[in-house]
Amino acid sequence: MLPFHTRQGFPQQRKVNLFSKQSLSLLWSRPVLRFLPYLFGLILTLYLFAPFLFNYGRDSLPIPTLPHGAPAGPVEPQVLSLRAQKVRDAYVHAYTSYKKDAWEWDELRPLSGGRDNNFNGWGVSVFDSLDTMWIMGLHDLFHEGLEIVEKSTFYTPPDKFVPFFETIIRYLGGLLSAYALSGEPILLQKADELGRSLLPAFNTTSGLPMFAVNPQTGATGAGWTGGVLWSEALSNQMEFKYLAHLTKRAEYYEKTEHVMEIMYNASIEGGQFPTQWDVSTGKPMNKQFAVGAYADSAHEYLLKQWLLTGQSEPKTKELYLKAVESIINELIYVTPNRNLLYVTDATNGSPSFKFEHLSCFLPGLLALGVHTLDLPLPTKELHSWAAEGIATTCWLSYADQKSGLGPDEMFMARAEPPYTSAKWTTQLAYWEKTGRPGGVPPGLGNTKPEENVGSRDYNPYKTSYLLRPETVESFYILWRTTGDEIWRERGWAIFEAIEKHARLERGYASVGTVDSVPVSHLDEMPSFFLAETLKYLYLMFVDQEIIPLDKYVFNTEAHPLPIFEWSAKERAQYNIPSKPKATKENPFKKQPMSGQST
Ligand SMILES: *[C@@H]1O[C@H](CO)[C@@H](O)[C@H](O)[C@H]1NC(C)=O
Ligand SMILES: *[C@@H]1O[C@H](CO)[C@@H](O)[C@H](O)[C@H]1NC(C)=O
Repeated sequence: MLPFHTRQGFPQQRKVNLFSKQSLSLLWSRPVLRFLPYLFGLILTLYLFAPFLFNYGRDSLPIPTLPHGAPAGPVEPQVLSLRAQKVRDAYVHAYTSYKKDAWEWDELRPLSGGRDNNFNGWGVSVFDSLDTMWIMGLHDLFHEGLEIVEKSTFYTPPDKFVPFFETIIRYLGGLLSAYALSGEPILLQKADELGRSLLPAFNTTSGLPMFAVNPQTGATGAGWTGGVLWSEALSNQMEFKYLAHLTKRAEYYEKTEHVMEIMYNASIEGGQFPTQWDVSTGKPMNKQFAVGAYADSAHEYLLKQWLLTGQSEPKTKELYLKAVESIINELIYVTPNRNLLYVTDATNGSPSFKFEHLSCFLPGLLALGVHTLDLPLPTKELHSWAAEGIATTCWLSYADQKSGLGPDEMFMARAEPPYTSAKWTTQLAYWEKTGRPGGVPPGLGNTKPEENVGSRDYNPYKTSYLLRPETVESFYILWRTTGDEIWRERGWAIFEAIEKHARLERGYASVGTVDSVPVSHLDEMPSFFLAETLKYLYLMFVDQEIIPLDKYVFNTEAHPLPIFEWSAKERAQYNIPSKPKATKENPFKKQPMSGQST
């Protein structure tokens, strides 16, 4: 800690001599020496600020100016709507409950009033929600949280590991985002410290990261697959690239980009990246293509890397578009009776028909792509329909239940093999061929909740609602990019259901049974509820765009990072092509989702 305050051999020695009695009396007898107090002042100033002014080399901190795109001061919500206030109250209840019963531990156990160190034991609920506090204008809580950050040494016992992926997205992402918003130098210092201590995870034959690493010893550990999940390998590029840009440490860029290179070189057919990868060979280990668990955030980081780095690395965008094309062709299905659009996963081309709450991030990602990428109109239309249809199914999965909260996993009603009739693309092609009957594409248009369990076209496989963010995340992005108020209304209904069924005296608890009230609870309040769910809900209702979508990109844990441009030097160093000039139109204009415009 404090590398620049403990540097040796700089002002102290001179100070000692000057303060001796003899030199003091001499000092005042000579006019020229009256300037000495000013000299002291200068030395002191240099001592305190030199690290900011000069580059001290490897171990020093980079210049802690605010990065491009960050606001100059604290963001104060101008007008807090009643709904935004309610969400902020919910956050305060959740966080103060954590403070009361679990302070400095990772997560609160809201039923028992207990606590858990389930994510490294460094206080993940604090790190993960610093930026939420900043965004909500809760500056006292934010500064109190900074003390935890300042104290943290990221200690891990020699025989233990921390999970690489979770540590990156929650801790490192949280630190970087809070730094970008507040400009507090300690946050960058700690991000750099943590980032460096996690780098040994990439020390494998292929350069794909290991599942777990010990930040002190650099030892690594394998996960249950023996390899690495696609989502784990591809959910650190935003954090490490931004960190490379802030600190000018090339290693961050090189290690994380090497993983991208493996993906570019893998020549995966149609962008259908498998969910498991061998860290020795750098080759796929299975043939499962998915959007939910094991894959989800990797899809995000393909598009979001492109956006975060000022649209300068076209290969990631190309992979994103390929992957989405395959998702649409291979993984999106329609249920036979209720006409519900959903996305599943497939192994060796064979779909599981499982639809996960985790996959409900996809509509938001597609909507972000539609509004940022220069796509042909038919592609925009297709992506927009997929976004609207899947988000509506996510909504119905909540609205159907007695609690108004959605189940974690469902098995969707399936058609008979060979299943092609249930594929969205098959139905779309027929709809196009027959002249677009009804004007509404298949899989869209049904927004009616269904009380009758037998008529829902799905069976819940996991009946819990784990306070997850994906659905409200997509509603937020859909509302922002389309202007359609329906998403805010649905978001509000979800918030009310959370208040009604998940709020307890000692915090908020995951719900065990979404379709029977009163619900049962699980003794957990995950840090992503503070980091993501409540943040997206707040941003949805506050009457000010605090985090403009053309200035920030959310990492997969809802930590907004500011869009930046690589400098000419960085581009040369990392072999990043220079940007073609003046081709950027404003990609954020609002457009209707269903493409009725021409
Ligand atoms: C990388 O791994 C090798 C062999 O497993 C080990 O000898 C080396 O010290 C490691 N390097 C770092 C930087 O951890
Ligand atoms: C990817 O392919 C290029 C061109 O063949 C090669 O130069 C590079 O080393 C490869 N990178 C990796 C990580 O395999």
